[in-house]
Amino acid sequence: MSVNKQVKRVTTHVLQAMKSRGEKISMLTAYDFSMARIIDAAGIDVILVGDSASNVMAGHETTLPITLDQMIYHASSVIRGVNRCLVVVDLPFGSYQGNSMEALASTIKIMKESGAHAVKLEGGEEIKESITRILSAGVPVMGHLGLTPQSIYKFGTYTVRAKEEEEAAKLIKDAQMLEEIGCFAIVLEKIPAHLAKRVTESVGIPIIGIGAGPHTDGQVLVSHDLFGITKDFAPRFLRRYLDLFSEMKGAVEQYIQDVRSQDFPNEKEQY
Ligand code: KIV
Repeated sequence: MSVNKQVKRVTTHVLQAMKSRGEKISMLTAYDFSMARIIDAAGIDVILVGDSASNVMAGHETTLPITLDQMIYHASSVIRGVNRCLVVVDLPFGSYQGNSMEALASTIKIMKESGAHAVKLEGGEEIKESITRILSAGVPVMGHLGLTPQSIYKFGTYTVRAKEEEEAAKLIKDAQMLEEIGCFAIVLEKIPAHLAKRVTESVGIPIIGIGAGPHTDGQVLVSHDLFGITKDFAPRFLRRYLDLFSEMKGAVEQYIQDVRSQDFPNEKEQY
């Protein structure tokens, strides 16, 4: 048996057990093989192939332009880089909002062509039928409530959601509904910490927060933000662990200088 086969893989059941034990769940985005290898080797629980690839990989202003085929390309690259973690893929904008049959067809295409383990969809009651149909095909679903970037033109801004009681009450109801129909986890994005605490305590499935405070069952960040590759994005909730933009820029500047001065390649760096 190879070493890889002996690795205990993270499943949705493992995440549920972690919530029961009060162990925090770590999740990060990845969009390619090399990044996925690093993140998986570090011991992350979940990799999200987020539609934030539209922003950080393709340079679009929103997540709306990324296509199903592009998500599958990213997801299949990530899958080839991991041994242990659970890989969840975002259904991109336009691939599930039409009707539940479209949602199921998009999900099946992702699962067959990428080898991913689960999908994530943004929204509550409005997409209940689609989520139910996907679940009945045996595919694990992660929900996503609060700030849902695919609806940015409805919201108008990327500001904190559900500060008012009416929106907060709908969010709690949606979270309970997602649990009831069988979602295995929910991402809560950019909502007040006290509301995220209420949701986390009122549902039995793992709640993963981003900009939702410390009380959720786990945390997720966009890896390019954590590494400091994205320079201009600096929301209050983000903790940067590196300044890779500056480090990589510095390395490239050094390389240019070495090429120009004919320091590179030297005698050892040739055949
Ligand atoms: O696409 C993404 O990266 C996400 C996270 C922000 C949760 O949905």
